[in-house]
Amino acid sequence: MLPIEIKKDVYWVGAIDWDLRNFHGYLTQRGSTYNSYLIVDEKITLVDNVKKAFAEEQMERISKIIDLSKIDYIVQNHVEMDHSGSLSKIMKHCPNAEIIASPQGVNGLKKHYFGDWKYREVKSGETLNLGKRNLHFVQTPMVHWPDNMVSYLAEEKLLFSNDAFGQHIASTERFDDDFPTDITMLEAAKYYANIVLPYSRQVQKALEVVGTLDIEIVAPSHGLIWRKNIPQILAKYQEWSSNQIENKALIIYDTMWKSTEKIAVAIQDVFAEKNIKTKMCNLQTNHISDVMTDVLNAKYICVGSPTLNNNILPTVAAFLTYLKGLAPKNRIGLAFGSYGWGGQSIGIVENNLQDCGFEMLENIKLQYIPKIENLQTVKDGLMKEIEEKK
Ligand code: FEO
Repeated sequence: MLPIEIKKDVYWVGAIDWDLRNFHGYLTQRGSTYNSYLIVDEKITLVDNVKKAFAEEQMERISKIIDLSKIDYIVQNHVEMDHSGSLSKIMKHCPNAEIIASPQGVNGLKKHYFGDWKYREVKSGETLNLGKRNLHFVQTPMVHWPDNMVSYLAEEKLLFSNDAFGQHIASTERFDDDFPTDITMLEAAKYYANIVLPYSRQVQKALEVVGTLDIEIVAPSHGLIWRKNIPQILAKYQEWSSNQIENKALIIYDTMWKSTEKIAVAIQDVFAEKNIKTKMCNLQTNHISDVMTDVLNAKYICVGSPTLNNNILPTVAAFLTYLKGLAPKNRIGLAFGSYGWGGQSIGIVENNLQDCGFEMLENIKLQYIPKIENLQTVKDGLMKEIEEKK
């Protein structure tokens, strides 16, 4: 449980959650970290906290550097409990420490912890002098909650970015250059798709501000600290937040007796013939949060369900609910499925995709077991529609 010095007198004092697998329905198969940082200056400053269950781990790391009673300031960039859960335990050791947060942050902390603590509200443009160094605050509302802000330690060219630029990765390595870059980038994309995507407009505003700062280190609140691939992750955030999509099709479905799957394969054939990159995502074998990582840059979102009890399969319902919440924009949708008699599933899927604001292709609906000639008719129709979309 050692701290790690990331700049002179600036330490990582967070916690590693090796076992985390479910983050509000997001499959975190690589675990995560809750990153907390300690700045040792004339004023001892703790930046962000950790999940409540990891308070002892965080405090052990801090106590290797200073006595906890010496903490003067606690900068809480975000209220969500994966970053503030240990606050009450920390405050027991330094009851006179001042808690610094945005106005929404102070309000949120009061409503989470009910502590009789000293608070200071800060807004964009305000600065906190720590002695030799200064922390500058920039509010970044909705990246990820209304209270979010980032803190910039100007003298060290270090940005504490909280949820922005995070990845759910548990590792003993702390820096991006010590860890496989392809995994870090993939997990950053998954994190963006599953957490940040609905707030892309606000990300664009935050990027404008971040772009004016001289940065050598980006220290997020989850996963690896960026010091090598900063231009790359900033470019990726620019790309994702501006909704840059590829000519790529996702075929997302579940099936009862393989009839809906036969339609899915026929759709795949059409996209393959048009040289459009295609991925099949059977919801029995793909987690919805992994599917979302692919949705991040896919132009075509095709969703299929057979009809079950006048409705859609629960796996497809879960995916559509999740998709609507994450609100990707400007996609082309396609609803498909097989049915026995009622055939309601196709309309339900179509309505959900329309609710997402997608431009829709003509739906595909086949009864019982699709014959080869039925599938050929479907392919011919879809081929024509895709050609018209070019
Ligand atoms: Fe990692 Fe919005 O908390």
